[in-house]
Amino acid sequence: MIDWGAVARIVHVLAVVVWIGGVWMVTTILLPAIAAKAPAEFAQGFREIEQRFAPQARIAVILVLLSGLYMAQHYALWPRFGQSRFWWMHLMVFVWALFALLLFVLEPLVLRRKFHQEAAFASRPAPAAMLRLHRVMLGLALLAIAAAVGGREGLF
Ligand code: HEM
Repeated sequence: MIDWGAVARIVHVLAVVVWIGGVWMVTTILLPAIAAKAPAEFAQGFREIEQRFAPQARIAVILVLLSGLYMAQHYALWPRFGQSRFWWMHLMVFVWALFALLLFVLEPLVLRRKFHQEAAFASRPAPAAMLRLHRVMLGLALLAIAAAVGGREGLF
């Protein structure tokens, strides 16, 4: 018989790897590489990276949600959300909600319009602000991964 809980866990972890691995690559390699370029080139580079990565990240984010909800139901984990010692479960959901807000609301509705106007990159703060935002999001995501694995092992 198929253990669907285990299948959901595999999907959850694989989707996290694709998604946060992509955020790592963008944050530590691609954005710093293009941040040094002229504003127009940065805008172009940013657009190219974003257009390729955002659809992949959106699929991964949906898979993380579905597999996470499935596990919570399958293993009857809902009461954890009412207990503070399971703060790492809250952290996972918080990080998920932040990325979902960025990918599904801010990016399509605000950033795409604002940052695709190359004039927005006429001053230097834009690349610096994008880098800072990505670093904070990456840090939170790594913390959530470490906390989830540690929490599951009973470290906290
Ligand atoms: C709404 C969003 C999410 C829900 C409902 C959710 C739910 C869950 C559940 C129920 C588990 C199993 C816990 C256990 O077996 O004790 C789990 C494990 C895990 N989650 Fe999430 N999660 C979500 C988002 C995230 C995010 C955003 C990340 C990473 C940035 C993440 C990373 C992990 C990791 C690494 C594990 C541990 C897997 C293991 O050690 O077997 N989750 N999640």
